[in-house]
Amino acid sequence: MAESFIDTAIRAARAAGALLRENFGTELSVDAMHDHDIKLELDVRSQELITQILLEAHPEHALFGEEGVTGDQDSAYQWIVDPIDGTVNYFYSIPHFCVSIGLQHQGQRILGVVYDPMLDELFQAQRGQGALRNGVPIHVSRRSLGDAVITIGFSKDKASIDAGLEHYRQIAYSVRKTRVFGSAALALAYIASGRLDAYIEEQISIWDIAAGWLLIEEAGGMVEVRDSPVKPGTQAIIASNGVVDLAAVSRA
Ligand code: IPD
Ligand code: CA
Repeated sequence: MAESFIDTAIRAARAAGALLRENFGTELSVDAMHDHDIKLELDVRSQELITQILLEAHPEHALFGEEGVTGDQDSAYQWIVDPIDGTVNYFYSIPHFCVSIGLQHQGQRILGVVYDPMLDELFQAQRGQGALRNGVPIHVSRRSLGDAVITIGFSKDKASIDAGLEHYRQIAYSVRKTRVFGSAALALAYIASGRLDAYIEEQISIWDIAAGWLLIEEAGGMVEVRDSPVKPGTQAIIASNGVVDLAAVSRA
């Protein structure tokens, strides 16, 4: 019998996570270094490992990842993979990064797994079945704006940094605290588990958010994704516990 999609996703996330843990803090081979971004050889190796596990178990599926596209692109099933989310943190030996794996069926999100190998925390969700952290059900917080701890994403170019700074200025005075952690997928997982209350970023890619998006929906929160106003082909996102309305604050 074929392995269930969720079991395969978890196996792939844990295998890639183990690879990242083993190499954490070592001298890393850099493929490209930009002003506000770094590409590692390990990004590619992690995606290769994930691809091998996912497509060996489900060879008829498509895969869309930060490091490239593979599999049968006509498939109704598409895996969406970020092999290291938080690559800059990883390169600087900051232990806050993850592996993110989502699965869509005919464009609908059906599964998401986010794995933090340093804390050994595995967040998972399947459509209609709720969200879990290490096997225990999780839920978004009920905090409102004044009590909220929110996070803002800053992406890789000036327009997105400017947009993030503008959000920081608009939002910081209204909430308890504002944080910038450097992994979008973990930010979403933290909202799903009630640690953070909301997240906003003007330039994000689908592989950063595919898994965490379903985690939040299944944990009772709210995610709004639209085309990025600062970079064509990317998205803008506001995610929250459903109580905090960052859109209203950032328009104010
Ligand atoms: C980045 C992180 C970061 C977000 C950026 C992403 P990467 O992904 O998720 O938190 O603000 O927009 O590009 O490059 O580390 O995979
Ligand atoms: Ca990423």
